[in-house]
Amino acid sequence: MTQLSANDTATHCLISPPGLHELPPPELRLGVLASGNGSNFSAILAAIAAGQLRAEVTVVVYNNPTAKVAERAAAAGIPAVLLDHRAYETRVAMDQAIVAVLRSHRVDWVIMAGWMRRVTQRLIDAFPQKILNIHPSLLPSFPGLAAVEQALTAGVKITGCTVHVVELEVDSGPIIMQAAVPVLPDDSAEKLQARIQIQEHRIFSLAIALAAQQAQKLAQQSESISIR
Ligand code: GRF
Repeated sequence: MTQLSANDTATHCLISPPGLHELPPPELRLGVLASGNGSNFSAILAAIAAGQLRAEVTVVVYNNPTAKVAERAAAAGIPAVLLDHRAYETRVAMDQAIVAVLRSHRVDWVIMAGWMRRVTQRLIDAFPQKILNIHPSLLPSFPGLAAVEQALTAGVKITGCTVHVVELEVDSGPIIMQAAVPVLPDDSAEKLQARIQIQEHRIFSLAIALAAQQAQKLAQQSESISIR
């Protein structure tokens, strides 16, 4: 019989620590970026309150002084910080300010819930693979503005919404979750948008939990490899 040395045993234990996948999902510190209404933000808060997402929204950043999301944050007792894009000379300067606010609230995941600004590498590098966006189409179809109108004009019979990891190009990046929504014969942009939003509110928190779990798993795997 081959004799195991103390070294072999130690290596074996480190590669496959017992109960690795039984760890509870991580408690997340979310920073929400929003430009308007904030119904997705409220849906995330509801999922947290219902115990469906182990997370806390530590700050909301908004760029438009009249955005309703600020009222929603105040009602929930969550700090909301206005960073008006018109006050910044460049997109990088704006993103630098956003990063500073997010860091000061010890955010680890950035959630774009109706954030109507292009991002720069400055923001992406500050939270690698940890910025999620929701878009009202089945990406890669209909990226950019007026996605619901684009879908109606194209005459597709099914559209929906997508949660994806944010990369530099608008509405690109690995897809975490999608929900399909049928286009009905008498649909207007408003009616279709309303049905898509119901699905957005359902999948965003699920996608956040899934992305965080995947990230946790990857981190554990690379930790055991580097220990080895
Ligand atoms: C959503 O439809 C989202 O897909 C898009 O902006 C909208 C934001 O809605 N990116 P709300 O502000 O969360 O109500």
